[in-house]
Amino acid sequence: MSQTRVTIRIRLAHVSDANALAVLSAQLGYPADEDVMRARLACVRGERIGEVFVAVDSQDHVLGWTHVVSRVQLEEAPFAELAGLVVDESARSNGVGRALLEAAEGWAREQGIACLRVRSNVVRDRAHRFYLREGYSERKRQVVFIKTL
Ligand SMILES: CC(C)(COP(=O)(O)OP(=O)(O)OC[C@H]1O[C@@H](n2cnc3c(N)ncnc32)[C@H](O)[C@@H]1OP(=O)(O)O)[C@@H](O)C(=O)NCCC(=O)NCCS
Repeated sequence: MSQTRVTIRIRLAHVSDANALAVLSAQLGYPADEDVMRARLACVRGERIGEVFVAVDSQDHVLGWTHVVSRVQLEEAPFAELAGLVVDESARSNGVGRALLEAAEGWAREQGIACLRVRSNVVRDRAHRFYLREGYSERKRQVVFIKTL
């Protein structure tokens, strides 16, 4: 793991982290309450939909989380994708994001996957600088269509 200004440990998310995951999900722009987050984490684990890692401080307080998934699509080789990455507003610029990204990349390598992809809203300038600095390059810009069913 890279050197950081605060002591950071990366571990798998526990069900007991549900409230912290929910609080940080709101900071990401996706509000969810603790019960919803607990159910989603159980689904991720039960269905093996990738992995969820948390970064914690020396007191095991959650500083950030990432959810990484593997994707198999007909038109291209399997790849991994960051379904979410967020660091607590009070903990940013300390290398927490980098540590979580390294955990996601490590998980992908363990699955035999050679490529990690992230889709990031065009308004997230700071996150884009972060990914560029971490060795990612911009592939394309997309438009997302959605229909409520
Ligand atoms: C993008 C995000 C995850 C980055 O997390 P982070 O913990 O701040 O990331 P890092 O600390 O690893 O790197 C970011 C900054 O810290 C600095 N930094 C990185 N490692 C460092 C270290 N060891 N020591 C000192 N500074 C460091 C970098 O220069 C960088 O600066 P800048 O981004 O202000 O230019 C975080 O900003 C975030 O949660 N944003 C809101 C949600 C979001 O946009 N998520 C991405 C969705 S696609």
